[in-house]
Amino acid sequence: MGNKVTKAVFPVAGLGTRFLPATKSIPKEIMTLVDRPLIQYAIDEARAAGITEFIFVTSRGKSALENYFDNAPELESALRASGKTELLKLLESTNMESGAIAYVRQHLALGLGHAVWCARRLIGDEPFAVILPDDVISAETPCLKQMIDVYQDTGGCMVAAMEVPRPQTASYGVLDIAEEKANLVRVKGMVEKPDPAEAPSTLAVIGRYILTPSVLETLNRRKAGAGGEIQLTDAIAEEIVAGRVVNGLRFRGTRFDCGSKAGFLQATVAFALARSDLRDDLLRYLQDVVAYRSVAE
Ligand code: G1P
Repeated sequence: MGNKVTKAVFPVAGLGTRFLPATKSIPKEIMTLVDRPLIQYAIDEARAAGITEFIFVTSRGKSALENYFDNAPELESALRASGKTELLKLLESTNMESGAIAYVRQHLALGLGHAVWCARRLIGDEPFAVILPDDVISAETPCLKQMIDVYQDTGGCMVAAMEVPRPQTASYGVLDIAEEKANLVRVKGMVEKPDPAEAPSTLAVIGRYILTPSVLETLNRRKAGAGGEIQLTDAIAEEIVAGRVVNGLRFRGTRFDCGSKAGFLQATVAFALARSDLRDDLLRYLQDVVAYRSVAE
């Protein structure tokens, strides 16, 4: 039912002020979880879901991000010459096919909806995915793949969904639930960052979307919503008003909010503990820290 999704938009224009002073010179998306930049996790997830065209919505000061996706021929030949084949393989696995990545600038920080709208000409008239690289999701089947698998049957728009404590609804897009079948939620409304007392549920939107091109038509109106920004949530909510299908998928996996320092640190620890070369040392260290804390208390 759902048409094939081959394009993904990565909104990466944010200033990353929560990570200053680091983000004075490093784009937030290049900051590393263990040894991979945040953006690499997003790209890997998109590739695993069958995405072949990657559209980055950038801003000034993001050239390090563009360079990261260039090949590194000098480095590759140095590794080849010194016989470091494992590292060479690792490096080559991050190379992108020529022409697979396109960059478009968001000249003004007018919100997530506006960022996606900036990519409209590259998206054209087909369904597309949006991945917010701040939301890192560790899952056996990558989150976007889970969504695309279900979307084949449902069509329409789909967002990744996760329960959050009610006080936190003010930080998310929140779903108004019509009905639920297993982990698929039929949505009858969406609100961006509602006051917890007024949130229609505690089911929040996490940064993975499959959208139909009609969302771009709504974004054409460039109507400001919560916080004075052009909100993607509002444009998706318009789909429901127009009688089209919007679903939420309660994905299986653990989501880390790498837009916050605490979330970033938690992701670093979780990803390091999943690595056989780091696990034992790190675990020993963490056990010492916890033991020390309980003595101090
Ligand atoms: C954005 C979206 C919001 C969504 C969130 C997920 O908000 O506007 O609807 O719930 O991402 O991380 P932001 O975190 O950019 O404020």
